[in-house]
Amino acid sequence: EKGGYDHFMLKEIYEQPEAILDTFRGRLLSNEAVIKLAGVEDNMKKFLAAERIIVVACGTSWHAGLVSEYIFEDLARIPVEVEYASEFRYRNPVITEKDIVIAISQSGETADTLAAIKLAKSKGAFVFGVCNVVGSSIARETDAGAYTHAGPEIGVASTKAFTTQITVLTLIALRLARAKGAISSSEFRHHLIELETIPSKVKEALESDGYVQTIADIYKDAKNFLYLGRGYNFPVALEGALKLKEISYIHAEGYPAAEMKHGPIALIDEHMPVVVIATKKGHYEKVVSNIQEIKSRKGKIIGIVTKGDKSVKELADHVIEVPETIESLTPLLTTIPLQLLSYHIAVMLDKNVDQPRNLAKSVTVE
Ligand code: M6R
Repeated sequence: EKGGYDHFMLKEIYEQPEAILDTFRGRLLSNEAVIKLAGVEDNMKKFLAAERIIVVACGTSWHAGLVSEYIFEDLARIPVEVEYASEFRYRNPVITEKDIVIAISQSGETADTLAAIKLAKSKGAFVFGVCNVVGSSIARETDAGAYTHAGPEIGVASTKAFTTQITVLTLIALRLARAKGAISSSEFRHHLIELETIPSKVKEALESDGYVQTIADIYKDAKNFLYLGRGYNFPVALEGALKLKEISYIHAEGYPAAEMKHGPIALIDEHMPVVVIATKKGHYEKVVSNIQEIKSRKGKIIGIVTKGDKSVKELADHVIEVPETIESLTPLLTTIPLQLLSYHIAVMLDKNVDQPRNLAKSVTVE
């Protein structure tokens, strides 16, 4: 059932090219320059009238929500707020009929997310679900939605659910961007063509596996890790840190790289591995200078870079290459080596990768 892999998590990491293709199937028609999503099409009026999108989710799904904040704002020019469902539900949030709430959940059974949906509905908001499990409570409770179609995810550490959530959210943002006229038809087409290349680029990113194992072996005994990224890759840094925490029980924190100087830089010394996502485009030059700051304090740098990168290579202790793509799609690639890094460290430390202590696959209690 693990398809020849030692763990479900590794199998699910390797399933990502196929899973992303399944997410596209019948929805991304690049030849015709069309995105078809019934849940969005049927409610287009509401989407176009929305003054704001509020995303509610927990854990990794919340990280996918954070990535979507950049995508929705950048492409579709709709203001987005991303909320922990557990906080949102107990506030007295300002929600109106003009808001669209997007609830993201792999399992569709997360208690806090379900409660946040009920609250939003009671205030008159239209609630759209992005779930993986078909027929789950959240899928049923929402007004409309789009499934991720990632197939069953068994490992407690979420992997393919994350990348397919980002894929669906990107499709929604692009569809709305086009409907609103926020991007030109040529830009739209360009995004579709790039999106279509992602499965094969994910496959290529998976080829870093051997080198990632070497890095895992060097740093597996570290007591702390920092993960840094900016822009679209800031949420990826949070996700990388969460993966390491949950399966290898090593303390890790994700930060926006520029926040370093406001506190965390004090932690840096020769014992601190720092994983920095420094892909070309976006804030590349700025991230390079963040790397210089870490280096001058003797931190060990593991850079996630665009294929062919030179500047980071000169500064970092290790670099892991991912293929080039447009900035908004980089999270789908940069997240791959981070999943592999946490996986290999956990295996080397002899931890229970698929069922880490104290955790459950779906958190149905608050
Ligand atoms: O099923 P959900 O997406 O609603 O689950 C949310 C979180 O419990 C989940 O993402 C959790 O953080 C994972 N174990 C992360 O790998």
